[in-house]
Amino acid sequence: MLKNFVAHYSLGYRFIGFLDDQITTFKEVEGAFMAPLSYSYELLKDDVHFILAIGNVDDRFEVAKRVMHIPENRYATIIHPDAYVDRTVKIGAGTYISANAAIMHDVSIGHHTSILTGSVIEYESRIGSFVNISPNATLCGNVCVDDISFVGAGASIIQGITLGKRNLIGAGATVIRDVADNSLALGTPAMSKPRKTETTLFNVFF
Ligand SMILES: CC(C)(COP(=O)(O)OP(=O)(O)OC[C@H]1O[C@@H](n2cnc3c(N)ncnc32)[C@H](O)[C@@H]1OP(=O)(O)O)[C@@H](O)C(=O)NCCC(=O)NCCS
Repeated sequence: MLKNFVAHYSLGYRFIGFLDDQITTFKEVEGAFMAPLSYSYELLKDDVHFILAIGNVDDRFEVAKRVMHIPENRYATIIHPDAYVDRTVKIGAGTYISANAAIMHDVSIGHHTSILTGSVIEYESRIGSFVNISPNATLCGNVCVDDISFVGAGASIIQGITLGKRNLIGAGATVIRDVADNSLALGTPAMSKPRKTETTLFNVFF
């Protein structure tokens, strides 16, 4: 999807290939290269940029730890031309904003985060790193979403709510209370309970 998107809209970038942890040798497929994840970015030209195109936020975080040889300034920040992003919004490296997302004033977004189609991020919300905001989710304003959290499609988070680290908010949930770290929240109004996840190193990047 990202390949087609970059190719179609240009966005200041030209798609040239993938790094993939399932392969061990460099190969070319349909004009794009596929190279092992360990492939040294130094072999690529200075103007080559990367993005972690991985939907699962836990996997995205784990892969990021394995490519720490790629410095932050080599990650692309990609904003679809049909997204509305207020000029006051701050966006980290490696973050991807899809079509028809609307991101309003004084929002901040961390690194390697995806804001997907049609989602609405209202004023002064703070979204961490390695977060996924799924299609048509709404953050009603001054909402905080901490790192490595996943907000499901069509979920609504009312204003002023804080979602902790490694949360999973189910599709269609309506969150009206703060959610603690490592929680699963489902339903309307959302009920949360501890989520089973393995412990990983935090503060590797931030
Ligand atoms: C929350 C979620 C991850 C749970 O998936 P799962 O672990 O496979 O859960 P299951 O389908 O086995 O369902 C387990 C229980 O949770 C309930 N449940 C699952 N998802 C729910 C949701 N979003 N809201 C309310 N209840 C839900 C099921 O009804 C079931 O209840 P039961 O045990 O009483 O029968 C998933 O349903 C979900 O919402 N994923 C988000 C999808 C999404 O937004 N994708 C966007 C991609 S860009």
